[in-house]
Amino acid sequence: MIEQFKKDVDNGLSATPKTLPSKYFYDKKGDDLFVQIMNLPEYYVTRAELDIFTNQTQNIIDALQLNPDIYFELIELGAGDGLKTKELLKLLDKQNYKFDYLPIDISQNSLNNLENTINKKLPNISIKKQQGDYFQVLESLKDSHHPKVVLFLGSNIGNMTDEMASNFIYELGESLCAKDRLFLGVDLIKSESIVLPAYNDSKGITRDFNLNLLLRINRQLEANFDVNTFRHEPEYSEKEGVAKSFLVSDVKQSVYIKAIGKTYTFEKGEKIATEISRKYNDVIIQKIIKKTDFFITEKLTDSNNYFSNYVLNRTISES
Ligand code: AVJ
Repeated sequence: MIEQFKKDVDNGLSATPKTLPSKYFYDKKGDDLFVQIMNLPEYYVTRAELDIFTNQTQNIIDALQLNPDIYFELIELGAGDGLKTKELLKLLDKQNYKFDYLPIDISQNSLNNLENTINKKLPNISIKKQQGDYFQVLESLKDSHHPKVVLFLGSNIGNMTDEMASNFIYELGESLCAKDRLFLGVDLIKSESIVLPAYNDSKGITRDFNLNLLLRINRQLEANFDVNTFRHEPEYSEKEGVAKSFLVSDVKQSVYIKAIGKTYTFEKGEKIATEISRKYNDVIIQKIIKKTDFFITEKLTDSNNYFSNYVLNRTISES
């Protein structure tokens, strides 16, 4: 874990332009900040998807074509606090569906919290949590041959380029059986006046979330980033449909990372790209899906037209 972190940080900060992988946002402090982001008035993403999970719960179950008598695994990639999923779990439980809930997350800390709230609020649900990144997850999926529904919510896929997303969904399909389903949640392309504030909130929580990446490097890799000399800079173009977050060095400076044993120099105004948050429409989703063995069977959208959940089935016929 720490070796991979060192390698990724060294690669990113040695590249031109500089980058750092967004998956490293989520240490304990980052998890905490992300929960705060989800509750921000500007961060419409979570509320929009929660609207679908709250007001169209039966439609979700119908669209997934679940059979109440056949056991299945409900797998969630990047489960986080499971806020939306709990709505679905509640109704599945009420209607006596036979299933286990398998939340997977990079953060052990949020998995533990999730397990506690589910045990408390939905004691009938059998939960089997698993810590890991998406690629470790794909491997472990191959071990089970039960019918599966994979939830990939919250526009988490938006941190990938379209090419990475295609490859990932293709690989996911390779790890599934013919009748398994993917339930994909994506944030839709909309105007800058709505998207940009979601990544530049007035309380500065998103700024702290972004800067925490440098603080994590300070803590875990014994570096000396002065976060007061870096500023949070989000960008969004509706035409491209991608929100991007940067950390910009306000001064010319160098930073030493002891665990790597290297010094990195920053020009005044030099940027580190820390995250992309892709926004989607049907054309973009179709283009991504075309290169996989999935096809779209249903789409649910919230009342503001901010967010969609797609149901994807496999194209492989049964042998
Ligand atoms: C969890 C990846 C969907 O990109 O909107 C929120 C993360 N970053 N604010 C997103 C995030 C800054 C979020 N995702």
